[in-house]
Amino acid sequence: MAENNQTLVLIKPDGLKKSLTGNILTRLSETKLEIIGAKMVRVSEALAKEHYEALHNEVFFAELIKYIMGEYHKKKVMALVYWGEDAIAKVRDICGKTNPEEADSVSIRGAYGRITTKGVYENVIHASANEEDAEREIKLWFSPSEILMDMYATKEEEVTSTMRVWV
Ligand code: PPS
Repeated sequence: MAENNQTLVLIKPDGLKKSLTGNILTRLSETKLEIIGAKMVRVSEALAKEHYEALHNEVFFAELIKYIMGEYHKKKVMALVYWGEDAIAKVRDICGKTNPEEADSVSIRGAYGRITTKGVYENVIHASANEEDAEREIKLWFSPSEILMDMYATKEEEVTSTMRVWV
């Protein structure tokens, strides 16, 4: 039976540099899923390494980190959380296979992705692979107050820090 779930989507620096945001969001809207979180992020090395932590032994790891940090395109990523029936599978389907050369040509990665001369996939979009990854990734990229839905357990914590405010 189909279940509601949530998934993290990243429009990567190549997608932003190539002005593909509108096209990608339009493609994703075909899913009729709900966007419950969205923001622009300047990706730190720490965030990049944590996100791709499982791949740290891969030969392409260092290049992958530079790519997601925007060293080759624009130093920004658009992060979104999609929610709804079978969100993980529906989004992955529209993204296409991870390797852009193997992805269906009408999928987002098939249409817009490429492989660099260094062998790194510039595949314009990331989407969580399964519920476990989605939880880890959503918690990494978003705080509870940035998402319009209670999906994972939260707690109140007193924090004493400074923040930038409008003058
Ligand atoms: S997947 O699709 O998430 O299940 O793929 P996974 O194997 O877990 O993650 C691979 C991520 O590394 C990026 N990448 C590459 N993978 C394989 N081979 C090469 N050469 C390579 N270069 C980059 C790949 O795009 C996956 O990241 P995301 O952000 O999911 O696309």
